[in-house]
Amino acid sequence: MADTANNDAFVEFERVQKSYDGETLVVKDLNLSMPKGEFLTMLGPSGSGKTTCLMMLAGFETATHGDIRLGGTSINNIPPHKRGIGMVFQNYALFPHMTIAENLSFPLEVRKIGKSEREAKVKRALDMVEMGTFGGRRPAQLSGGQQQRVALARALVFEPELVLMDEPLGALDKQLREKMQFEIKAIADNLGITVVYVTHDQTEALTMSDRVAVFQDGRIQQLAPPDQLYESPENSFVAQFIGENNTMEGVVTQISDGKALVQLDGGELIDCKPVNVTKVGERTRVSIRPERVEYNKERLHADAHTLKAEVLEFIYMGDIFRTRLRVAGNDEFIIKTRNAPDQTRLKPGEQIEIGWMPEDCHALDA
Ligand SMILES: Nc1ncnc2c1ncn2[C@@H]1O[C@H](COP(=O)(O)OP(=O)(O)O)[C@@H](O)[C@H]1O
Ligand SMILES: [Mg+2]
Repeated sequence: MADTANNDAFVEFERVQKSYDGETLVVKDLNLSMPKGEFLTMLGPSGSGKTTCLMMLAGFETATHGDIRLGGTSINNIPPHKRGIGMVFQNYALFPHMTIAENLSFPLEVRKIGKSEREAKVKRALDMVEMGTFGGRRPAQLSGGQQQRVALARALVFEPELVLMDEPLGALDKQLREKMQFEIKAIADNLGITVVYVTHDQTEALTMSDRVAVFQDGRIQQLAPPDQLYESPENSFVAQFIGENNTMEGVVTQISDGKALVQLDGGELIDCKPVNVTKVGERTRVSIRPERVEYNKERLHADAHTLKAEVLEFIYMGDIFRTRLRVAGNDEFIIKTRNAPDQTRLKPGEQIEIGWMPEDCHALDA
């Protein structure tokens, strides 16, 4: 059999499938290849198969079909504790009867590391998460954020090359969650560890990751760096799932040189970038970001198609203005504008014309 392993890949899933009941596949055809040191996030709605993938990588579940490799070696038959993988979960999973230092020492004892080396490693790991003075306390004596830091230190204490995190910040409040996002990312970068991170929170995925794998129904819909995912979604699901998008439906009437002309169902014509439409007559769902819509005619191409719009609502949000419009029969068309000194504040009832750069309006699958 041909050796298909990619030599630069550290973590690899090849044609992996998983069924729990022998009938339904909850992971359908997973292919993924990660270089060492990458921070990759699996992002997707609940039930899309993210945790299952992490559990197969950790060794707590076996793949029904396909191959999972770590450092070029198939790990299907290596038990979890021999895979050298650190794990962090949402519910911390610290041992309540042990002190913080004992919690961290435990994975080192399991690995038969001597006492003085254990103590040095525990101290270093606690210092790394700024919990150096808490070693003598028990988990119940710490706040949620502190417990999560300890859980992180415990996953890192035996210096794993790979760390898996499943919604580790899900139980924390917004402010602490945002602080921990930066801390986890900084620690991972400093140590050069490879991280597979799972979340259903798109902001978290975009801010922390080198690449994001968008999951839906047991498949990866798109795997790309955050900016590419946001700016060039490959299909309607990704466009809808990542960030906010205005969508309109219509038919392709012209297509050439990387440009498409789409006739909306109400008859209006708009300029788009064909993403996954290829021919005239095809139905499409077009997708445009609220911050890429322009209503100042001076900033639009002279020959750009525009749409008439009525202002329905103006919301002042401090840094930005969020304005809701009626466009081509859609009452939920949102535009966002920066609160700049010369920015007009639109008023409900006003009639305007909107447009955009054709490359910002994506013609996707209907
Ligand atoms: N241990 C299990 N036994 C049977 N079905 C499971 C088990 N774990 C998960 N599932 C099912 O597999 C699908 C994917 O679940 P999961 O991987 O937990 O998704 P996610 O982490 O993306 O929310 C879901 O339909 C879920 O109900
Ligand atoms: Mg899950």
